[in-house]
Amino acid sequence: VKLGILISGRGSNMQSLVAGAGSAYEVVVVASDRPSAPGLSWALEHGIATFALSPKDVGKATYEAALDAALRAAGAEYLALAGYMRLLSDEFVARWRERIVNIHPSLLPKYKGLDTHARAIAAGDEAAGCSVHLVTEELDGGEVLGQAEVPILAGDTAESLAARVLAEEHRLYPRVLAEWLNR
Ligand code: GRF
Repeated sequence: VKLGILISGRGSNMQSLVAGAGSAYEVVVVASDRPSAPGLSWALEHGIATFALSPKDVGKATYEAALDAALRAAGAEYLALAGYMRLLSDEFVARWRERIVNIHPSLLPKYKGLDTHARAIAAGDEAAGCSVHLVTEELDGGEVLGQAEVPILAGDTAESLAARVLAEEHRLYPRVLAEWLNR
């Protein structure tokens, strides 16, 4: 399967998806809503096609039309969001229905949205983690395809917990994506 990856920032999950490519999927394009995203230069250096456009410059509708065209021109059949920090419109999601996955740093359905680690610590939870899920019109609300759990330790900060969860994200995402594509 030809995979497109959408990022907004450093792209460490994108790197783990590229490293995990194989018989289940190949990464054909990395796209970003932030032209300055560090992950874009990494993709370029590794010979992967890239696309970048800021919705602030052209408006959301034009941005999404150009994004969709670039993904299709690159041959992408499925999309993986990897630290993509912008809501996709209902129309965009409908065009890629059942073909977009995301990784979210919480044990969904807990803590949709932002600041997941601080919220898990504040709630006194004993465990945190990450979830790979299908993308639907509802934010972080699609079917969960796989999860990994880590303990929350005494003295954890949002930063220390985020680092522990991120290490699991890097293991979970390529594995669950490949399993789901081979289903
Ligand atoms: C990850 O924790 C991801 O779960 C969240 O944002 C972070 C992105 O990190 N949505 P990276 O860009 O993949 O390094």
